[in-house]
Amino acid sequence: MAVSLFPSSLLMTAFLFSSMILFAFPTMIESWQTGATTTRHYQFDIKMTNVTRLCKTKSIVTVNGQFPGPEIVVREGDRVVVKVVNHVPYNISLHWHGIRQLLSAWADGPAYITQCPIQSGNSYVYNFTVVGQRGTLWWHAHISWLRATLYGPIIILPKLGIPYPFSKPYKEVPIIFGEWWKDDTEAVINQALQTGGGPNISDAYTINGLPGPLYNCSAKEIFKIKAKPGKTYLLRIINAALNDELFFSIANHSLTIVEVDAVYVKPFTVNTLLIAPGQTTNVLLTTKAEYPNANFFMEARSYATGQGTFDNSTVAGMLEYKNPTSLSSSSFNKSLPFFKPILPALNDTSFVTNFTKKLRSLASAQYPANVPQMVDRRFFFTVGLGENPCPENHTCQGPNGTMFAASINNVSFVMPTTALLQSHFAGESRSVYASDFPIMPLTPFNYTGSTPPNSTFVTNATKVLVLPFNTSVELVMQGTSILGAESHPLHLHGFNFFVVGEGFGNYNPAKDPARFNLVDPVERNTVGVPPGGWVAIRFLADNPGVWFMHCHLEVHTSWGLRMAWLVLDGSLPSQKLPPPPSDLPKC
Ligand code: C2O
Repeated sequence: MAVSLFPSSLLMTAFLFSSMILFAFPTMIESWQTGATTTRHYQFDIKMTNVTRLCKTKSIVTVNGQFPGPEIVVREGDRVVVKVVNHVPYNISLHWHGIRQLLSAWADGPAYITQCPIQSGNSYVYNFTVVGQRGTLWWHAHISWLRATLYGPIIILPKLGIPYPFSKPYKEVPIIFGEWWKDDTEAVINQALQTGGGPNISDAYTINGLPGPLYNCSAKEIFKIKAKPGKTYLLRIINAALNDELFFSIANHSLTIVEVDAVYVKPFTVNTLLIAPGQTTNVLLTTKAEYPNANFFMEARSYATGQGTFDNSTVAGMLEYKNPTSLSSSSFNKSLPFFKPILPALNDTSFVTNFTKKLRSLASAQYPANVPQMVDRRFFFTVGLGENPCPENHTCQGPNGTMFAASINNVSFVMPTTALLQSHFAGESRSVYASDFPIMPLTPFNYTGSTPPNSTFVTNATKVLVLPFNTSVELVMQGTSILGAESHPLHLHGFNFFVVGEGFGNYNPAKDPARFNLVDPVERNTVGVPPGGWVAIRFLADNPGVWFMHCHLEVHTSWGLRMAWLVLDGSLPSQKLPPPPSDLPKC
C-alpha cells in the first residue's frame, strides 16, 4: 500500500519548484510500510538529455532527464531502495554522500572502491537504511567527473512526531550549487590527466541548475524564492560544485545556521556562510516583517586559495517579495529596486576561519555529541599537491614541465581496476592493493615552510590503512605548501567525525592537543583543511567495509588526493559486513 510521506511543508516545496523549474517530478515510485520501517523505492534511469544554459545547448548525463536530479525524501529510520539503470555510454556509479551505510558498504558507491561501475545497459539496486541521521545530504555520481551533472538532494526528515530543535519553518527550499561547463567535463579531465596540466575551469556557477542574470545570455535562467513577509524558511544548502568552495549571502537578510552534514548544530547567525564541495548546511531565513517594496539577490562565488586559475564569476538568484495586492502582473516587477549582498574577498581565509570556529555540535541530551574521549590509534597525514615526472618523449603542462599530482603522506592513490571491497571480501586482495598505507610521512619536512622538501615527486600506489573493528581514531590532516598552500575539503565515507581542533602552520603534538574541543566539536563528513594549516578529527571505526577518503575538489581527487580505510569485521554477527548483493556489478 502506498503511504503519504510528505508533510505539507515539503509539498509546498515541491509546488514552489514545479512552478519554476523542472525539479520536483515525482520519481519515487512507491513506498511500503512493514512494521516500524518504511521502504522508499526510487527508479533512477541514467540518460542523456539536452539542456540549454548561457545560450548553448549541451547533451548531459541526467537521472530521469532531470537537471539537477530528483530529490530523495525519507524519514530517519527508513530503508531506501534505488534501482539505477544505465542507459548512457559511460560507466556509472552513484554515491549517497554522508549516509553512514552501517553494514551496507556495498551500497556506498565510489567506483573501484566498494563496487565496479554499472556498465552501459546494466543496472544495480542500491539498498540502505538511514540510521541516526536527519537533515540534508545529497547523492552524486562517483566516477570520473560525471558528478558535474549527476547530483541531487537527499532530505532526511526527523522520525514521525519528532520536531526540529528549532521552530517549524513555513517552507523548506533546497538550494544546490553546481558548476556549469560549456565543455564536456569528461574530455576536460581526461585531457588534463594526459598533459599533466591544470584542467579548464567552469563557465558559471548555478543555483538549482540556473546561473542567473550576472552571466551573458542567462537573464532568464534565474532561481527565485517567492517570499512572503514575516515567515521563516528552511534553506537546505548543498555544494555540488566540482572544484570550488563557495561563499553565499542574501542581501539585507541574515542566515541562522542550524545543521551541517545532517547533524544539528548550536544555532548562530551570519550574513555570509562558506560551504565546501561535499558539505551541506541548513539555515533559517526569516523574511522581512512587511512587503519591503524591494527584491534581494542571493549570490555565491568562490573562496579560492590555490595558485591556479579558477572560476571567479558569481551566481545570483532572487528573493522576490511579490505583493499580491500590488497591480504589477509580471512575474518580476522590474520597477522595484533590488539589493545585492556584499561577499568576502575571494581569498578571505580569516573570514573562513572565523566562520568555521562558530560551528559547534548541538550536544544536547536528545542529540549528544559522542566524541571519542580515548584514542586507540593516532595518525598524521600530510595532504597537498606534488608532481610526477613527465614520461619520456612527452611534453607536460604541469609545474616546470612535470605532471601535477596530489597525495596523502606522499602516496598518490592509484585507482585499481577492480573494486577494493570486492577483492577484500573474496580474499583476493593480494594483487589489488597493499595494506601498508603510511601512518605518518616517511620523510618529515617543514610542511608549511617556504622551502620545499628535497623531492616534490609523489609515489603512486594503491594502499589502504587497516583498522580493527571499533578502533577509536584520531587523525591530524596537515596541509602542505608544496606548489602553494591550498584549502582541501576532505571527505570521509562511512562515518561522521568530530572536528576537535584546527590551526595554521605545522601541527604541534606537544602543544595543540591541550586545546582540543572534546565537549561540543562539530560533527560532519567533510572538513576543510585550512591552507597552510591542519585539522584534527576523531571517529570510531564501527562500520566494517572499505571507506574512501578524499579531497572533494574533484581535480585534486583526480590527481590522487585520496586513500581508503579498511575496517575489519567485529566478532559478533551484528558487526560483520553481510555478503554482497547478487546484482553487484562486475568489472
Ligand atoms: Cu561526495 Cu567520495 O564523495
